[in-house]
Amino acid sequence: MDYFNYKNDKLFCEDVDLQDIAKEFGTPSYVYSKKTLERHVDVYKNAFKTKNNLVCFSVKSLSNISILKILNEKGCGFDVVSGGELKRALLAGADPKKIIFSGVGKSHDEIVLGIQKEILSFNIESESEVFRIEEIASLENQTANLAIRFNPEIDSGGHEYIKTGRKGDKFGISSNKLILKIADYINNSKHLKLVGLACHIGSQITDLESYRLTARNIKNLSITIKEIGSPLEFLDLGGGLGIPYAKDKTPSPEELISIIEEELKDIEERIILEPGRSISGNAGILLTKVEYIKDKFLIVDAAMNDLLRPALYSASHEVWNLTDSALKKELWTIVGPICESSDFIAKDYLINAVQGDILAIKTTGAYGFVMSSNYNSRLRSAEVLVDGEEFNIIRSRESFNDLIKNEINLND
Ligand SMILES: Cc1ncc(COP(=O)(O)O)c(C=O)c1O
Repeated sequence: MDYFNYKNDKLFCEDVDLQDIAKEFGTPSYVYSKKTLERHVDVYKNAFKTKNNLVCFSVKSLSNISILKILNEKGCGFDVVSGGELKRALLAGADPKKIIFSGVGKSHDEIVLGIQKEILSFNIESESEVFRIEEIASLENQTANLAIRFNPEIDSGGHEYIKTGRKGDKFGISSNKLILKIADYINNSKHLKLVGLACHIGSQITDLESYRLTARNIKNLSITIKEIGSPLEFLDLGGGLGIPYAKDKTPSPEELISIIEEELKDIEERIILEPGRSISGNAGILLTKVEYIKDKFLIVDAAMNDLLRPALYSASHEVWNLTDSALKKELWTIVGPICESSDFIAKDYLINAVQGDILAIKTTGAYGFVMSSNYNSRLRSAEVLVDGEEFNIIRSRESFNDLIKNEINLND
């Protein structure tokens, strides 16, 4: 559920007419609903029957510091995958003891930062990463907390590019033998502590059976690890829950958590989840203006540099006109100004629109702005946060100076 609704034929975000935002900040602009974000966190938290669980919001899906602040105030922890994301979470006021650092390629400096900040866990993905963290922890005279990310070799369905838990994927460790060897190594290290087991099998997952199997595997593995004398503090089932982009039906966080709790009953470890998309996805829209109409094309001012998902994953998004007029709907292909045929928002899409209209590309809160770029020397769009009747800019539209500020003109 989200808070983007028509009132008297005008599209509102909470109590704000989206035309007012377009007028004040221009287009393309991302707009986020605070109430929607807060509601999603509540849905996750209230779904747990067990106590002492932790929802670590996946920062990669939407990383604006003002958004992270809202989620921090709601009690979320954070799942980060880079030093930049870690710094963002800390700037938002996050407690390092609620931060998990995932990713296959953590750099030296990122590990130093995580150790110095004493984060909850590095979710390690290889044996060589363990050795590197140990060496750095020893130099820092600290103990680093580690969870082993295992790869259950499960195909979670959906797009090829967002499956992460299959045999041969670069993520996690598949071999139980190697996991036990690493667990043993960590237990015997002065500078490492084994605190958990983790996995993340993919994104936009709509089949809960893959979570059930993963939970079963992680539980069995945790039992074996405990038998060799390693008590664990948490089991982290990752993120990945799918959301409806068109009118498709997707499982709810309640259904997901009920399956996980059923599979993990009788365990003492706390459960951690790392949802991204299912918290931020439908909390955001992208406003864009129809610049031109040509043949069957609506040419809008947002492009693949603003929203990469259609070009990258052939993703579908609903598109709504800010004014729900009585004009007859027609089939349009909605495209941006970038010089690539993959630069489209939607193909053969039924909508009414005339030149100058403002459209809302829905469910773009996750993997929207964070994937934007300056391709074609376009300026990244503005980000705006709505809270009830108020709206505020939370990232200014880039300027030409922003675009070239790191370039060095050798002729000067
Ligand atoms: C390790 C990890 N955790 C959590 C997530 C969040 O996934 P989603 O946004 O699908 O919930 C991702 C995204 O791919 C991830 O790589």
